[in-house]
Amino acid sequence: MQSFSYRNGDLYCEDVSVSKLAEQYGTPLWVYSKAFILGQLKQIQTAFAEVDPVICYSVKANSTLGILQVIRDAGCSFDVVSGGELYRVKAAGAETTKVVFAGVGKTDEEIRFALESDILMFDVESEQELDAIAAVAGSMGLVGRVVLRLNPDIDAKTHSKTTTGKKGNKFGMDIERFRELAAKVLRDKRLALKGIHMHLGSPILTTDPYAAAGRKAVEVVEALRRDGHDINWINLGGGFGISYRGNEGLPASAYAEVIVPSVKEAKCRLALEPGRFVVGNSCVLVSRVVYTKREGGKLFVIQDGAMNDLIRPAMYDSFHRVWPVKPAVAMPDDVEGEIPGCEKTDVVGPICESSDYFAKDRYLPAMKRDDLLATFSAGAYGTAMSSNYNSRPRATELLVDGSTVKVIRRRETYEDLVAHELG
Ligand code: LLP
Repeated sequence: MQSFSYRNGDLYCEDVSVSKLAEQYGTPLWVYSKAFILGQLKQIQTAFAEVDPVICYSVKANSTLGILQVIRDAGCSFDVVSGGELYRVKAAGAETTKVVFAGVGKTDEEIRFALESDILMFDVESEQELDAIAAVAGSMGLVGRVVLRLNPDIDAKTHSKTTTGKKGNKFGMDIERFRELAAKVLRDKRLALKGIHMHLGSPILTTDPYAAAGRKAVEVVEALRRDGHDINWINLGGGFGISYRGNEGLPASAYAEVIVPSVKEAKCRLALEPGRFVVGNSCVLVSRVVYTKREGGKLFVIQDGAMNDLIRPAMYDSFHRVWPVKPAVAMPDDVEGEIPGCEKTDVVGPICESSDYFAKDRYLPAMKRDDLLATFSAGAYGTAMSSNYNSRPRATELLVDGSTVKVIRRRETYEDLVAHELG
């Protein structure tokens, strides 16, 4: 069963009519398919089964507790980048002993919190961070388990704002410094080096960068072992791409095909940090048309969903499919070109910024006030990056499981907007 499909001219999430949900819960509205998330996790688990990976879902992609609980129940762990994310993992009732902690700026408080939580390991990004982990662990009488994050200098050909594995990015450490830092860990009883970490960028729609990273990982692991390190972890980060436009995404098996051989050759355990691949296509953001207008030779559809809800188009020029929930014209496979019966339209939000749009110059069926529009592939970096900009309350999030619906985040109220302020 497809998680999102049109049935008799109405969009369904699993067995639930999206328009009925919009009537009941209002808009903007996030609608998630639980089956989709479970299917994606299963796909990764199956593809990499041969090396029994630890799958650490990247919390930054979507940190809503109801989503984390689905992932916890599927037997996966988590990749966190802040004390707040670690807190969320705990609040979701998840075990923390398989959690990995990445990020370039971990504070002493965050390091202490992670050590108290007995996480699996820190992805370390600088020499000073290594010193900080050693100091905090030492003060607690503990040993900090670390993997060093290598900047592999691989161009994963992503958007300039989401590439991370090229020389000159703020992430990781250059290969030249790597062995020197590893030697420092070897001398320090407060630290234990467990392996290496790389994250190449996001989203990556080819397997070549992973093949290259795998080869580099084998070389580095062997060199470190020659230097006397007892290491057995390779963490290859996240970044698996998904289909935003059509079928450009690859199955997990394609990535596994190039990664697994290197992991076996290095005789290591594998950790992965997928975010987008797990949740990206699990969700549509449903908005209602407030007005339409024609100005300057263009047709604008002004809806109630905006860049405070989904900032990706404004921030990265990201492409999301947008189509009516009850369309007069069936959604074609390719929504980018000219479509018969449709007119070139800009789908925009009410926020006072020109960058507040979800789709530009897109062929769409005629829309009128109160019609519903679905923005697809909204599950990753949607709610997690949402804000209250223009003092707009954050929207309701619903998790659909077959024909049952659970509210996993209620709509914020105006009172919520000012609740933390001391005016
Ligand atoms: N691990 C590390 C160290 C990362 O930096 C990231 C993402 C991930 C894992 C998860 O990557 P994923 O599997 O989700 O591609 N806000 C941007 C994406 C930023 C990604 C940041 N790091 C977007 O909306 O496209």
